[in-house]
Amino acid sequence: MPAPSDAIIEHFAAARRRKNLSSPYLAVYNPYGAVIAGLYPLTQHDATDANIVESLTEWRRRDSKWFFTQFEATPERTRNWILSSLLLDTTKILFLIRSAGGELYGHYGIRWAQGNVLELDNAIRGISSVPERLFHFVEITLLRWAFECQDVEKVIAQVFSDNIGATMMHRGVGLAAEREYEFDAAKYTGCDITSNGREFKRVRVLSISRGDFEAQDSRSADQAGTDHKAFARDRNEPT
Ligand SMILES: CC(C)(COP(=O)(O)OP(=O)(O)OC[C@H]1O[C@@H](n2cnc3c(N)ncnc32)[C@H](O)[C@@H]1OP(=O)(O)O)[C@@H](O)C(=O)NCCC(=O)NCCS
Repeated sequence: MPAPSDAIIEHFAAARRRKNLSSPYLAVYNPYGAVIAGLYPLTQHDATDANIVESLTEWRRRDSKWFFTQFEATPERTRNWILSSLLLDTTKILFLIRSAGGELYGHYGIRWAQGNVLELDNAIRGISSVPERLFHFVEITLLRWAFECQDVEKVIAQVFSDNIGATMMHRGVGLAAEREYEFDAAKYTGCDITSNGREFKRVRVLSISRGDFEAQDSRSADQAGTDHKAFARDRNEPT
């Protein structure tokens, strides 16, 4: 697999380096320009926060059937994964999604897949009571951010073909089905599909190119009157 470009690595490193952890790295706006949530790259400090570790564990356990790798989630395992895998992996970022008051809504990850391709990854709505269409706007925020990185030409997502919620979420921001392939459980450590009682067999790959996203994003911004300059200002807050 080709190495990620310097631009992508630097983009990810900048998100991790930031010192100002009390304000979001990315603000999530609704079409009327109101901030409805913030995205906070998960940090080493978060691994010492029992509430965060327990929430991530509980959500992963609850929604495990939608993920490729199956395992018994425990707080200890989550903490170890954050410290010895996620935070050491320069190609991945997991964003916590929080309200302005700090309430944890869920999380959303992004990872460099190959070449100039980024993959949307590890999205979970942790609680039911979140702002309307939150994950739609989180995904738009992440796509804008990803395509701002000059080397990203395409963003993809991979979902089990029976995962309607995730498929609709991706379609809603413009990703289109590209292909499907047979899921190979043997590739994933600890993955035991049969014991999970599911019959999924296929993975759907959805994608959007930079050009398609930019055309669609400027159309919807015109319609909704979104202030792109304000958005950019907030994103480039000092780290
Ligand atoms: C993926 C996820 C974050 C999306 O969050 P969400 O957008 O808040 O929630 P929902 O899944 O309820 O809905 C997504 C869309 O699918 C639609 N939808 C959900 N189930 C549906 C069904 N059975 N039939 C038709 N439409 C459906 C919803 O109406 C919604 O559409 P809208 O945005 O136009 O209103 C959330 O479903 C989740 O946490 N899933 C479990 C973890 C997961 O699957 N992660 C992805 C792994 S690849």
